[in-house]
Amino acid sequence: MAQDSRVAIFPGSFDPLTNGHLDLIERSARLFDRVIVAVLTNSSKQPLFPVKARLAMLCEVFKGRATIEVDAFRGLLVDYARTKGARVVVRGIRGVTDFESETQMALMNRRLDADLETVFLAPSASNVYISSRLVREIATLGGSLDGLVPPAVAKRLAAGRQPSTLRRA
Ligand code: PNS
Repeated sequence: MAQDSRVAIFPGSFDPLTNGHLDLIERSARLFDRVIVAVLTNSSKQPLFPVKARLAMLCEVFKGRATIEVDAFRGLLVDYARTKGARVVVRGIRGVTDFESETQMALMNRRLDADLETVFLAPSASNVYISSRLVREIATLGGSLDGLVPPAVAKRLAAGRQPSTLRRA
């Protein structure tokens, strides 16, 4: 597929999607013609939600959004980006810890494909402390998720307190 600089990939585990991700995806959608939210399917991490459920939540959240596409990928991000004709990867940076790991990943991706650029976006200050890891922990321990995740995700996390829906309860 021909490369198009106006297509951006927003990759991640999204286990689960948080309001921090949502914030960054909306910002990306204002900058690019098309944003592909891409869920990694071959992660070594033990997920809370199976990929299918993560995709279902993303589809529900972005339903009707013509410029935001939801997809899954496996293998190298650079290979996936090439198949989509994307030259830009968007990642969020919440602070210094993210900066270190994200620049490492961006530079490694550049080594693998010099034509693929990584663009870093900062979320709004009110979302800086949100992470999927903390959301999983709070959900597992029965805490309030108000303001941390979109309603579609909150609904599934609540349902997931029944162990059949979640891998870990
Ligand atoms: O939400 P996450 O877990 O921080 O997302 C990490 C992700 C999916 C963006 C990253 O692990 C990735 O791109 N994996 C694909 C495999 C790959 O390309 N590895 C080399 C990256 S330097």
